[in-house]
Amino acid sequence: MRLRGKICLAALLAGLCGCASPMTENDRRANALLRQMTLSEKIGQMNQIASSTGAITGPMSERLSCDEAVKKGWCGSILGIKDPAEIERLQHLAVDSSRLGIPILFGHDIIHGCRTIFPENIGISCSWDLDAVERFARIAASEAAAFGVAWTFSPMCDICADPRWGRVSEGSGEDTFLSARIAESMVRGYQGDELADSSTILSCVKHFAAYGAPEAGRDYNTVDMSWSMFKDKYLPVYKAAIDAGAGTVMSSFNDFDAVPVTANSRLLRSVLRDTLGFGGFVVSDWGAVRELIAHGVAADERDAALLAFRAGVNMDMVSGCYLKSLESLVESGVIREKEIDDLVRPILKAKFALGLFDNPFRYGGEARRHEMYSGDNMQAARELARESMVLLTNNNGVLPLREGARIALIGPYADDRNEMIGAWRGMAEPDSCRTFLEGLCDRFGQSQVSVARGCDPRTDLPGGVAEAVALARRSDIVLLTLGLPNAESGEASSLSSLALPPCQKKLLRALHDTGKPVVILLVTGRPLELVEESALAQAVLVTWHPGTMAGPALADIVSGDCSPSGRLSMGFPRSEGQLPLRYNHKSTGRPLRDPASTAKYVSRYMDVSNEPLFCFGHGLSYTEFVYDNPVIENPVLSPGEDLRVSVRVSNTGTREATETVQLYVRDVLSSVTRPVRELKAFSRVTLRADQSVEVKMTIRYEDLCFTEASGRWGVEAGDFILYAGHDCSATLSAPFSVR
Ligand code: GLC
Repeated sequence: MRLRGKICLAALLAGLCGCASPMTENDRRANALLRQMTLSEKIGQMNQIASSTGAITGPMSERLSCDEAVKKGWCGSILGIKDPAEIERLQHLAVDSSRLGIPILFGHDIIHGCRTIFPENIGISCSWDLDAVERFARIAASEAAAFGVAWTFSPMCDICADPRWGRVSEGSGEDTFLSARIAESMVRGYQGDELADSSTILSCVKHFAAYGAPEAGRDYNTVDMSWSMFKDKYLPVYKAAIDAGAGTVMSSFNDFDAVPVTANSRLLRSVLRDTLGFGGFVVSDWGAVRELIAHGVAADERDAALLAFRAGVNMDMVSGCYLKSLESLVESGVIREKEIDDLVRPILKAKFALGLFDNPFRYGGEARRHEMYSGDNMQAARELARESMVLLTNNNGVLPLREGARIALIGPYADDRNEMIGAWRGMAEPDSCRTFLEGLCDRFGQSQVSVARGCDPRTDLPGGVAEAVALARRSDIVLLTLGLPNAESGEASSLSSLALPPCQKKLLRALHDTGKPVVILLVTGRPLELVEESALAQAVLVTWHPGTMAGPALADIVSGDCSPSGRLSMGFPRSEGQLPLRYNHKSTGRPLRDPASTAKYVSRYMDVSNEPLFCFGHGLSYTEFVYDNPVIENPVLSPGEDLRVSVRVSNTGTREATETVQLYVRDVLSSVTRPVRELKAFSRVTLRADQSVEVKMTIRYEDLCFTEASGRWGVEAGDFILYAGHDCSATLSAPFSVR
C-alpha cells in the first residue's frame, strides 16, 4: 500500500477509535526521537546543504563544510552529490559520529534519468504514454537508489504556455489534464508501493506554485493571476501528484498574489495542507528563504527565516537562514519549540518511511551499480525517446526514408553526444550516448550515411556551408539537425526570441537551394518559431533532447521501422508576439470564430494569425486515422456521474501505427467565462492497416469541475459539447448535458 494509503488508513482508524490525530508507527518513532533531540539537532534536520563536490544549481554564497555540519548534526539533507562513495562516506560520518546518528537524506535532480538518460521531460510528455512514463520513473529511481540517492526533486508540475521560459523543457507542457496524468505516473514510478524498498525513492512536487507563469516568460519573474485561474488551471497538477502519494513539495522562487511563495502561508498551509491534505514536508527551492530579502518582504536573514517558518517551510535548501536564526528565535520566545517539533516531525517520518533508520546504507552499494545501462533500461530509453519524437510535417511522404537512399546527415547536432542529453542530466555520462550518426550508420550502413557539420549552434563555421552543400548534391536526401543547445534549456535560460540562430537559417536556405529534399531534425528543449523552416523543409521531426538512446530511436523513426506517435504537449507559435499562447483560451466577447474572417472588431492580430503554427496535440504518423461515429452512452449526466464515450477510429493507411485519441470538452454556458475547450481524456491505440476500432473512454465527472462564480468547486447544470479527434482542433462533436 502506498505511503499515502497508509496514512489515510491510519486516519480512518484514528477517527474510529476517537484519537485526536492519526498516529502511525512512523509518528510514534519520530516523536520518540524528537524527545531525545536538542533544539540545535532539530533545527539541523531543517537545514539542507550542497556539497562542494556536488552539483551547484543556483547562486552560492558562503559554504558550510559538509563534514563539520554532518558531525554536529547541522544538516538533515545534502543535495547534488554524484559520487556514491562520497554519499556512503558522509552517511557513515552521520551515523557513526553525530550524537544521535540520524541518517542523512541525500537528494538530487533525477528528473529524466540517472545514468540511463531519457528524453528531456517535455519530450517525455509528448509520448502521452503513461505506462512508459511510470516505467521511466521506476528505472530512474532504481538507478538513483543504487547511487545512494533516496530523494529526487521531481516531478516538475508547472504547466506553461510560454516557451520563452526555458524551464518548459523540464515540464509536461501547457495542459492541465495531460500534465496531471504524467505527474501522478511519475510519482507512482519513483515511490512504487513501498518507500522502504531499496529501489524506490521519495518524490518531490515542484515548483509549488504556478512557477510556470512568470510574466514575459522570464524565469523567476512575478506571477500574478486570479485565484480561480490558479485553482482551475495550475493547482490540479500539483494535486494529482500529491494524491498519488508524493512525499515532499518544493516551494517556488516566485511571488504569487504579491506574496513570495516561500513566505506564503495561504499557499503552503491553507491550500497545500488544509485543502489538499498534504502530509509530507516542504523544502524551499535553492536559496529561496534568503531571497525573501531580495523580494523586499524580509529585512534580514532572521526575518526571512521567521517568514518561511511561519509559512510552513520544513526544510531550508542551502540558504542557511534556518540554521543561523531559528534557535535564537526560539530562545527569544518568538517561536515555541513545539512549533519546531511540528515542522521537524514530517522530515523524520520521511526518513523512517524510507527505511533509513533501519538501514542507513540500504541505498547505494557497489553491487547495485551493475544495473546502470542494463539492456532493459536502455531499451526503455530507446522506446520512450522514439515515442517522444513528433513529426510536425511530412510533405510528399518524404519520410520514412526509402531503402538505399544516400543520406546526408548535416548540422551541429549530427554527431554530438553531449547535446543529446539535455539539461538537468542526473548522473549522465555523455560518452554512453548513441549519436544520430551512430544510430543511422547502425541501421543503414556506413556507406549510406555521410556527415557534415555545416555550422556551430550559434556561429558560422568557415567553409561549413560549402561543405554541406557539396555533400547534399552527392546525396538523395538531407537530414538537417537544427535547434538550440541543451545549455539553452532548463533553469535561467529565458529567451526573448524563439527564432533559430542566423547561421542555422543560412545553412537551411543553402541546402534548400540545392533542390534536394531536406528533413529537419529539431533538437530543442522548447517549442520554437519555425515559420520559414517549415516552409523550406519537406519534413520537420522534433527530436527534443532525446537522451542516451538518441541515435537508435531516430533511426527507428526515419527508417520506418516504427511510425512516429508523438503528439505536442505544447503548441508551437507563429510568433513570440502571440505568447502566452493557449489552445484552451477563453472565448472573449468578440471572438474570432473563423481564422479566415477579415472582420475588424474581433480579438485578433493585424499582422499574424491567432492560431499556433502547430497546435497542442498535433503530430503525424506514417498512416492516416479517420474518426467518426462519436457516441455518448449517457448524454444526460447526473451529478457525480462519469461520461462514457465511444468513437470509431480507423487506420486508413498501409501500415500499423499508434494514435492518441483525444477528447475535449466545452462548457457552453457558465457563471464564469470558461475555456473554448479543454482536454479531458486521451487513449493510445495501435491499429493495423485498414483496422477500425470503437475506442471506449471515460471522462471523470470530477474533471468537469471548476471554480464557479460563487467560489464553489463543482459542475454547473447545463449543456456541454464533446470534441473527439487527433488534436485540439478536433471538429467531430457530440452534445451532452449535466442535470
Ligand atoms: C534549482 C531548481 C530546482 C532544483 C533545485 C535543486 O534552483 O529551481 O528545480 O530541484 O535547485 O537543484
